[in-house]
Amino acid sequence: MSEAIRVGIVGAGFFGSMIAGACAAHEAFTVVAVTDAMPDAARRLAEAHSASVRGSFTELAEDDAVDLVVVATPNHLHAEPAVAALNAGKHVFVEKPLGIDEESVGSILAAARGARGRLIVGHVMRSFPGVRRMVAQAGRGDFGTIVEAAGARRRVVHLPADPGDWWKLDRRRSGGELLHEIHELDLVVWTLGEPAQVLSVSGAPVAHGDGVVDSDIVTVVTTPGGALGRHSVSTSAHRAEWWFRISGTEASVEADFRAGTVTRYVDGVAVEVTGVFDDPAADESLRSSAVKSQSYNSGGPGPLWMRTAVTCELDEVAAAVTGTSTTLTEHPATAALVGIRASGLSTAGVAR
Ligand SMILES: NC(=O)c1ccc[n+]([C@@H]2O[C@H](COP(=O)([O-])OP(=O)(O)OC[C@H]3O[C@@H](n4cnc5c(N)ncnc54)[C@H](O)[C@@H]3O)[C@@H](O)[C@H]2O)c1
Repeated sequence: MSEAIRVGIVGAGFFGSMIAGACAAHEAFTVVAVTDAMPDAARRLAEAHSASVRGSFTELAEDDAVDLVVVATPNHLHAEPAVAALNAGKHVFVEKPLGIDEESVGSILAAARGARGRLIVGHVMRSFPGVRRMVAQAGRGDFGTIVEAAGARRRVVHLPADPGDWWKLDRRRSGGELLHEIHELDLVVWTLGEPAQVLSVSGAPVAHGDGVVDSDIVTVVTTPGGALGRHSVSTSAHRAEWWFRISGTEASVEADFRAGTVTRYVDGVAVEVTGVFDDPAADESLRSSAVKSQSYNSGGPGPLWMRTAVTCELDEVAAAVTGTSTTLTEHPATAALVGIRASGLSTAGVAR
C-alpha cells in the first residue's frame, strides 16, 4: 500500500467515533484531525487517535494535512461541511442519508460537479461482499432481465425512556425513518437506477414520549423500462424482517440479513447459498444479533458484523479515492432524493 489516506472527522459522536476506530485499524487510513460542535467530544476522539483538534469544519476542510473528510454530523447538517470540503479539493465521505431536503442534496451535488475530490456516500450495505456480488451479477445479466428489486427493514427499535432533545427523534433533523433508515431503499435504487415514478404510503404514526415515530412506510418505484422496486421500513414491527432481493426472468437472489445468507433461487428451488460477508464469524454475528432486541446507538465497539461492515466500507472508500471502485460513488443522491420525494407523498393511511 502506498501512503495512508489522511482522514479528518467532522462529528465525533457515535458513528464518527466508530469510523475513526475502523480507520485506525485499517492499513489504508490514518486519522489526523477531528472537529465537533462540542469541543470535549472532538478532544476525546482526537486524543484516542493522536490527531489534531480543528476548531470548525471549515478549518478542517482547509487543513493541508487532510486528504479525506468524513462527515458524520446529524442528518440535517451534512451539506455545509461536505460542500466546504469539496470546495477545498478534498475527497468527502458523507454519512447516509446524503441529505434530508432537495436543497441540501442539490448543494452537495453542485459542489461535487467538477470538484478535485470524490463524493463518497456512506451506503454501507453496498459494501457487504454478498450484496456487492448480487448487484454485480444483476448488472451482468446473470438473472436475466431484472423485473424487481425489493428490500425490507422491519423491527421494534427501542428508544431511551427520556431521549431529551435527540435529533434522531425529530423528523426535521433526522428526515424521518424512511431517510434515516435508507439502506435497503438505496440498494433497491442502486440496482434499478433512476426511477420514473415514486409512490409511498405510511401508516399512522405511533406515539413515543412527547413525540411520534413512523409506524410503517411502504414505497414503490418503477423504472422507465418497467421494473418494480418495493421497499418497506418499520421501527415498530414485532415480527422482524431484514432482507434484499433482486428478481430476474431467469433467477432470483435474496440476502436474508437476519440469517447471514444470500440464496439464489431458480423456479422456486434454492440452488446456491453463500454468506452476506466472506467471513463465517461475521455471518454468525448477524444471526446472533438478529435474535436480540434492537436499539439506536447502543454504544461500545458494536457487534462483529457491524465492525466487519465498516471495514468492508473502508475498503470501498479507499478504492473510491484511488478511482478503482465506484461502489460508493455511483448514484450518490438517488436514494436520498427518492426518500425525500416519498416522505412528501407519505401520509398516514392515504395512498397517492
Ligand atoms: N451507516 C450507518 O449504519 C450509520 C449508523 C449510525 C449513524 N449513521 C449516520 O452518521 C451520522 C452521525 O450519526 P451519529 O449516530 O454519530 O450521531 P451523534 O449525535 O452521535 O453524533 C453527531 C456529532 O456531530 C456533532 N456535530 C453537530 N453539528 C456539528 C457541526 N456543525 N460541526 C461538527 N460537529 C457537529 C455533534 O456534536 C455530535 O457529536 C448521521 O448522519 C447518521 O445517520 C450511520
